[in-house]
Amino acid sequence: MATLKTQAAARQILDMNAFDAGAHEGNLNPLLARRMANAGAAAVLFYREPIEVVSAKGSWMTAANGTRYLDFYNNVPSIGHTHPRVVAAVADQIARLNINTRYLNSVVDLYMDALKATFSPELSNVVLSCSGSEANDLAVRIAGATSGGIGIIVSENAYHGNTSIISDISPSGRKSRKLPDHVVTVAAPSGPGQSASVEDAFDADMKRAIAELERRGHTVSAFVCDSIFSSDGVYADPRGFMRKAIDTLRKAGGLYVADEVQPGFARTGDAFWGFARHDVRPDIVTMGKPMGNGFPMAGLVTRPELLERFCEDTGYFSTFGGNPVAAAAGMAVLDVIREENLQENALRQGNYIKARLADLASKDERIADVRGAGLFLGIELCRPGQKDRPDAEVASSVINGLKDRGVLIGAAGRYGTTLKVRPPLSLSEEEADIFVDRLADTLADLKLS
Ligand SMILES: Cc1ncc(COP(=O)(O)O)c(C=O)c1O
Repeated sequence: MATLKTQAAARQILDMNAFDAGAHEGNLNPLLARRMANAGAAAVLFYREPIEVVSAKGSWMTAANGTRYLDFYNNVPSIGHTHPRVVAAVADQIARLNINTRYLNSVVDLYMDALKATFSPELSNVVLSCSGSEANDLAVRIAGATSGGIGIIVSENAYHGNTSIISDISPSGRKSRKLPDHVVTVAAPSGPGQSASVEDAFDADMKRAIAELERRGHTVSAFVCDSIFSSDGVYADPRGFMRKAIDTLRKAGGLYVADEVQPGFARTGDAFWGFARHDVRPDIVTMGKPMGNGFPMAGLVTRPELLERFCEDTGYFSTFGGNPVAAAAGMAVLDVIREENLQENALRQGNYIKARLADLASKDERIADVRGAGLFLGIELCRPGQKDRPDAEVASSVINGLKDRGVLIGAAGRYGTTLKVRPPLSLSEEEADIFVDRLADTLADLKLS
């Protein structure tokens, strides 16, 4: 049984639910020892006891020992692990041609047309890359060329990727939490003690952040924001709360970069893109993770004049970005989301899980809050009677308890106290029930010190 103690230290994103080799005092099984020897200090593994996985299908992953796990962790294989349409598209295209974008190829242009059709018409230029980090890196550079400034605003616990520029604007990726002078944060739109409406409070914080950048002598260049605030702990409501703050940003000359790496591609259920929930118009939208259902691909869309300004000085080319195999994978993803009604399914199953969790919360006061949209939910966990003090050890014990019961799930939030619910969009009601039932079993079995 787990013994819990309250923990209030901020956690780096890579520390969430991470394997701690130090705790094993050199007593590692051969697979773990080999990984640690190969990857060294950069090795990052999930769970107190990492899992060796060998195959996956739909919402399920299978371990080497035959154990099947329901995958609520992973929003990359978003239309379901090893979806046959993606497998066929990639296999067919890689057997035919794979080349860079300096050649004309209709697979690539058909894909860019289809992707653009999911946005409003002014976002008519596409740049394809290989990772969300690269897409955000380019977005920040485009914003800099447009605004003439370098000041960046992000949310307090944001993660936007791993390049040098983007590590500087990813507070949750930094163990020290120290940010460079040109980066200022705004609070995630929630929490006790806010007297104004969420929209007004968020706008006031944006004004403060802009003033702080100016006080430091920096022109505001961009607000880079994941509209579901996933690494901050998942905050989706109330709808529209970002609108005023984005207006304020624009008046100060800043660009709004919507990082859709997490909420994009229909996950929030009510719209194809997360920012649409707030009725705001980004200048640049970046995307990645679910874009190729596991085939590495990412990119951004923007207005032509922004890209023109940036390309006057630099230009942009990526050897692998936007190759025909990636485009074939991406097209299969768009087709399957539409044909299998996965956006509607995300909304239906998300609402179903939310209702079942609300019922569970009414009987178990360790569930402090349930929030989010579609199949992107956050469950805040605490000790009994301490709703205002979410507890990382409770969350960590629930995560490992769920794993022991065959369900994989991760943590989010500054202190790692939020369970992040992100199953494939193809989730069935039966699978949703398995998750909630096993969460209830795990909580029932959890002993608090
Ligand atoms: C919101 C967000 N943006 C960007 C990234 C970076 O994407 P990638 O790991 O593909 O570089 C991540 C990765 O977790 C992310 O969560």
